[in-house]
Parts: sequence; structure tokens; C-alpha cells
Amino acid sequence: MTARRMETLVTQFFASLNDRILAMQSRGEEIIRLDIGSPDMPPAQFIIDTLYRAACEPDRHGYQPHAGNLSLRQAWAEMYAREYSVTLDSNREILPLLGSKEGIFHLHQALIDPGDVVLIPDPGYLTYTQATRFAGGDPHYLPLLPEQNYTPDLSNIPVDVLSKAKLLWLNYPNNPTGASISKDFFEQVVEFGLRHRILVCHDAAYSQVVFDGYRAPSILAIREAKETAVEFNTLSKSHNMAGWRVGAILGNETVIKTLYRLKTNVDSGHFLPVMEAAAIAMTQDQTWIERRNQIYEQRRDILVEGLHELGLKPNNPKASLYIWCPVPGGWTSMAFCEALLEKARVSVTPGVVFGAQGEGYVRIAITSSQEQIKQALENMKNSWKNFERNSL
Ligand SMILES: Cc1ncc(COP(=O)(O)O)c(C=O)c1O
Repeated sequence: MTARRMETLVTQFFASLNDRILAMQSRGEEIIRLDIGSPDMPPAQFIIDTLYRAACEPDRHGYQPHAGNLSLRQAWAEMYAREYSVTLDSNREILPLLGSKEGIFHLHQALIDPGDVVLIPDPGYLTYTQATRFAGGDPHYLPLLPEQNYTPDLSNIPVDVLSKAKLLWLNYPNNPTGASISKDFFEQVVEFGLRHRILVCHDAAYSQVVFDGYRAPSILAIREAKETAVEFNTLSKSHNMAGWRVGAILGNETVIKTLYRLKTNVDSGHFLPVMEAAAIAMTQDQTWIERRNQIYEQRRDILVEGLHELGLKPNNPKASLYIWCPVPGGWTSMAFCEALLEKARVSVTPGVVFGAQGEGYVRIAITSSQEQIKQALENMKNSWKNFERNSL
């Protein structure tokens, strides 16, 4: 019954982890979840009120245009002008997505043929690989190493790989390493894309989860970027709206037109009240986001300090929802996470899930309350002897 191309797909790690944790919870075990990057706080009340009011209207329940309504696309344009000094044409350079994951997956189905290569960061967001394989393409991994501030070395890609490469994926602020970059890096990337005729896909999912005064740049702010790049963005993390499924692809007009053609055959767009509330979210008061980021920043500080006290050496991210932390000596990332879950009742994500270069690390999300984070650190401290001795 199953199509052969399904052999390229495995059930996503977090789907399996969820099932396992639900089973533990049903046995009465209390698990502190620092694994998945799903914001635990709600969006601002005025956004929810807009959704509610619109949903109460009788004329808001029908199908909507596949490219979303103009006000939503204009809201993306307004946010890009305000936050990143990027000018976008609301009709040609912005296409709403049902969350950015959907667009990321479908882009490969629209652009990649068997034998094409996709350049993918390792460690990196899993969908880049799964979508490439599903389209019959070949992933070529670019290691993200701490000594290069978790940026890929674009000068070191074999010529035969480059000649087959159609897409390059980048993601800053980065999942899972928490790394952030400056605009200079994007200048090099745009030059690389133009020179090799490769579409640069920048995934900016965490661009508004920033700390310590850092501002994450958009690749579209680089001159000529629109010739060779698209950016994916989403309100999932920026506005605590992960369940609302509001994302967009922005930039290169031809690519957007191709993805639009595919999507008119796949989905039928958003619920209009969701579009209205999303537009309000992007264009009205943004001060709550700063306050929300301060809450994340405090959680980060508590976690980083607590992990240091345990003798670990976590990074101290300026952005994203993640702390990237080497595991203690003698452990694989998977075994360490298993032990944390079983002994300390704390769930974090094994780095190896994000690629071979993630071995030796865990990803710890700051999407639980301060109290839960403190409890997680306490639980880890209490069971720490098990980890130091590498005995289970
Ligand atoms: C790097 C990255 N890109 C894209 C996404 C997908 O976000 P969404 O589909 O909610 O817009 C995520 C979600 O965790 C992510 O970490």
C-alpha cells in the first residue's frame, strides 16, 4: 500500500518523544519538558481578541484566496520594513504559508529533481533533509563547528557537488546551536548564491527571539539578495503563535510564483480570522515582545548558570530558544538524554537528532517557566552522581 518514496521518511523524533512522555505522564511521572521549541506563553490579548471578534462574524468562514488576503501580505511587508529595513512588494514577493515548515517542505517538491543536491547545515532543522529526500534529491551536509561560530565553510564544497547544488539552507538565529550571525556573513552568502546560481533559503524562524540588545538581520536586507534568495519567517516563535500556523516565504519573485502554483494544488489557505489577527499581530503594539524576550533571557541566565554549576559548558545564546551544551565525558547525546529523562525526569533533545555533528551535545529549550527550569536543575543536581560516574 505504501508508496516507495515514503521509505525516505521516518516519523519525526518529536512525534515519538511525545508519545513516550505521554505514556510516562499517564503512569503519574512528572516530566519537565525542555525539549521541543514550542513557546509556552500566549500571544498578546489584543491578537486573541481580534481572532475571536472576527470568528463571531457570519461572513468570515469561507475559503480565502490561495495567496492569503492583501492585508496579511501588507502586514508582512510592514513588519519587514520596520524590523529589517527590507522593502517587499506585497503582491509578488510575499506568499503566506500554513506555518513555515509547510513551505519549507513544499519548496523542495517544487524545485528539486532526482539527482539535485541540497546543501544543508549539520546540525540543522530536520525538515530540510526529509524534504530533500522526499523530492528525490541528495543532501550534502555542511558542518557547523563551534570554531567557525556555527557558520558553514562555503569555500570548501567539492566542485562536483557545487555543480549539482540547487539550494543552500541557512538558519540564523540557529536551531539547534543558538548561534547568531552579523550581516557581513549574509553578504558573503549572497555573493556565493549569485556566483554559483544557487537559491539561498534562509530560515528566519527565531529572528525576533533576541537577547542582550542583539538584532537578527534578514538576508533580504543585502543588496541583490532577491536575485538569489528567499527567506522563510513565521509568527510561531516571534509572536508565540506556533499553533496558529502563520508563516511566509519572502523574496525571489520567480521562486514564490512556483511555490504558489504547487500550493494552489495542495491547500486552501488560512481561516480569515487567523489572517486578520496575524496582520494585527505584525502591525500593532510590539512592546510585549520585548517583555517576552526579557522573560526568555532570565530563563536562559538561570539555565546557563545552573548548568555551569553542574560542571557543564553550555553556550550563552544571544537569540533563539535553545542552549547548546556539550554532554559530560563518556556519554553519547542519546544516552545522556535517556538518563536525564529516566533519572532526573527532565526531557532535553539529543544533539545527534539534528545530524552527525550534533553528537556530543544536547539542546535545551527555554520554553518552560523559571520554576520548572529551577526544578529541572535541582533534579539534575540530585541525580548527578549517576552522570559523573557514567553509570546507570
Ligand atoms: C529552524 C526552524 N525552522 C522552521 C520551523 C517551523 O516553524 P513553523 O512551521 O511553526 O513556522 C521551526 C520550528 O521549530 C524551526 O526550528
